[in-house]
Amino acid sequence: MRLDKYLAGLGVGTRSEVKKIIRAGQVTVNGTAAVTPEQKVDETADEICVGGRRQSYAAFHYYLFHKPAGCVSAVRDEIHRTVMDYLAGAAGKDLFPVGRLDLDTEGLLLITDDGALAHELLAPAKHVPKTYYVRVDGRITQEDIRMFEEGADIGDARPARPAVLKILDGGSRQEAHLTLTEGRFHQVKRMFAAGGKEVLYLRRIAMGPLVLPESLKPGEYRALTAEELAALKKPASGRKEGDL
Ligand code: URA
Repeated sequence: MRLDKYLAGLGVGTRSEVKKIIRAGQVTVNGTAAVTPEQKVDETADEICVGGRRQSYAAFHYYLFHKPAGCVSAVRDEIHRTVMDYLAGAAGKDLFPVGRLDLDTEGLLLITDDGALAHELLAPAKHVPKTYYVRVDGRITQEDIRMFEEGADIGDARPARPAVLKILDGGSRQEAHLTLTEGRFHQVKRMFAAGGKEVLYLRRIAMGPLVLPESLKPGEYRALTAEELAALKKPASGRKEGDL
């Protein structure tokens, strides 16, 4: 198979992006830098690396899952259903959720068996943006926006990193989109609590370049598209804070 076709099929990038990566010398085949996109590879035997990272055909699986409330973001649990109970029909036997959402939180959860990618996405230093739709029990004010922008004191040794709060114009001013670049325990709930408000409903609607599709209902999942996977694997990829 042609090298560019193989890498595009893996979701490394579009065909033209992959060609550029190859010509930039970022791809090795059995330890030697590939020079042309047309180079033939044996995907069952050759060791192919992009930026030093080993790729292999369908070696990993990636699913976008809409977590419903009432299940835990874990592989096993004694008491509750787990997110994995919803993915019983998915390929890949070592799947796990990338990060956690609270029991009562809904929304986007990436499920994969690619430990290296999960590690990258969760690394605190990467500051992968996560956007939440949130409904609270009071009016969200300009003061809340300012406090989140400056870094809310949520009772930890360090204040929260600056976050973008956008009030949704529903009249009551109780709904907002909040974009964070970290993932501390109960972070959204603690940030609103710092402003004296209780979170009534929380749904993650985006993580890095991934956006929860409206067509994906709670409890449903689908494989990532090649474009989504390529965007996720791009170093420092993602929407800018507050894009949604
Ligand atoms: N922040 C929370 O408080 N809960 C979640 O589930 C995710 C972010």
